[in-house]
Amino acid sequence: MANALEKDINKVLISEEELHAGIARIAAEIRRDYEGKDLLLIGVLKGAVIFLSDLSREIALPLEMDFMAVSSYGDRTQSSGVVRILKDLDESIEGRNVLIVEDIIDSGLTLHYLLKTLQTRNPASLKVAVLLDKAERREIDVQIDYRAFDIPDEFVVGYGLDYKGLYRNLPYLAILKPEAYES
Ligand code: IMP
Ligand code: MG
Repeated sequence: MANALEKDINKVLISEEELHAGIARIAAEIRRDYEGKDLLLIGVLKGAVIFLSDLSREIALPLEMDFMAVSSYGDRTQSSGVVRILKDLDESIEGRNVLIVEDIIDSGLTLHYLLKTLQTRNPASLKVAVLLDKAERREIDVQIDYRAFDIPDEFVVGYGLDYKGLYRNLPYLAILKPEAYES
């Protein structure tokens, strides 16, 4: 772990091999459930990009992709659940079989808002796939249909997840050294 990207890493929480195995497992479930249906993956920018790119190739069914970007709700001191859409979908989801692909569910506020918003657009079905579930932190109940990993209440980076915009391109999921948060 000597290179410039890895110098702030304290420990690897989920290795590349483990990530691949967990993603392959839920991809098989998704393939079974959506075989013969028209599937639309909705990636939540930016954190879900790496997960979506690997997951979609493991699913290996005909599918389409679209993307949304939402604002986080600032400092998390309040749990109003108000999330702002920064980039909306390009296409209508009416009558489509929609699977939201998200990097992590923490409080649940982001996914709760997305589900509520997309449901009003009359998709044929609407489900959720997450890479990581920090269940201890949940503030609002959200049904997760496909979950690759449960993780403890620790801040993680890598495989799409960032701290101040960095570390998304680490190939594994990691915990940073305390000093990485101080600079
Ligand atoms: P929620 O609305 O609290 O469920 O938060 C979901 C969003 O918070 C995710 O999409 C991430 O952008 C961010 N987030 C939550 N926990 C972490 C973490 O450990 N590392 C990086 N981002 C996180
Ligand atoms: Mg996110």
